[in-house]
Amino acid sequence: MTYLSPLGYLLGVEGAALLRGIREGWADRAFVEARIAEVRTLLDVSALAHAEGVTASPGTISAADIYQEWAPHYDAPGNEMTDVEQPVVRRILDSLPVGAALDAACGTGRHTTYLHDLGHDVIGVDASPEMLVQARKGLPGVGFHEAELHQLPLPDNAVDTVVCALALTHVPDLGAVMAEFARVLRPGGNLVISDAHLLMSYLRPTLARRPGPDGRPSLLAEHHRPLSAYLAAALPLGFQVRHCEEPRRPRHSLGSGTAPDPLPTSMSWDLLHWCPEASAAALDDSPIVVVWHFQLDGTGKG
Ligand SMILES: C[S@@+](CC[C@H](N)C(=O)[O-])C[C@H]1O[C@@H](n2cnc3c(N)ncnc32)[C@H](O)[C@@H]1O
Repeated sequence: MTYLSPLGYLLGVEGAALLRGIREGWADRAFVEARIAEVRTLLDVSALAHAEGVTASPGTISAADIYQEWAPHYDAPGNEMTDVEQPVVRRILDSLPVGAALDAACGTGRHTTYLHDLGHDVIGVDASPEMLVQARKGLPGVGFHEAELHQLPLPDNAVDTVVCALALTHVPDLGAVMAEFARVLRPGGNLVISDAHLLMSYLRPTLARRPGPDGRPSLLAEHHRPLSAYLAAALPLGFQVRHCEEPRRPRHSLGSGTAPDPLPTSMSWDLLHWCPEASAAALDDSPIVVVWHFQLDGTGKG
């Protein structure tokens, strides 16, 4: 069980801002005193003090449930993760030889479209039928298949490039999925991965959703990983690291909104507007995505 409290979240953001400022050497006396004063103010806001949180059960909602709801709106502008991830992934894709490509967990086909436009013979695979409906609308001539990442509907050595974007955080067993990527890639093939950054999970934790089967608000189980976990999964399969990048959230990403009214009834990212300076100090210019370019050993699979 996790208790998600609006006031608890805001105090956490103030604490993260203080710790980061001290660590990075820019938390001068005025900044530290402003944080302490703001903590007192937040504690004195009666609406916050009396705002009930929710007790949520992790793992009681699935990625399939989330994407079923999100699919029609997934490509709406304003997704900060895709905004920072896309140029980095595209730069890597631009450097790769054109051939047969797989967009694994393709979603609505964001990268499938780019691979297709680059001239690749591309297919897309995703576990969500609703996301695939959107993908097929955009690319009617491309093969899209409903399947799980650890059971790809492809023979061995089928493709030159695999892209897997912003999906591995949903996967409990990274090793099994990486082994599947190695299986379908030809020797010398390229694997481009993007994923939510571990740091992001602390600063913007997952939010509670509608009640799950036990009647409590549900939390999506996510698998945020340190960078060493990707290496531990990839290197024994014969992948070599060609590039790794951790794109950051832009500065001033919060905008200049005002404190929301009415107060959200549970922890919500909207609460960040209650402490804009602390939120910017804690979140701006911090890595929110990791992007990897691996290449499979060209001499065969070990
Ligand atoms: C955040 S979306 C990313 C979609 C697309 N790759 C992009 O970057 O725009 C995550 C996608 O991963 C898919 N997904 C999650 N777990 C999966 C699994 N085990 N097998 C296949 N697809 C999965 C979801 O259905 C969803 O479409």
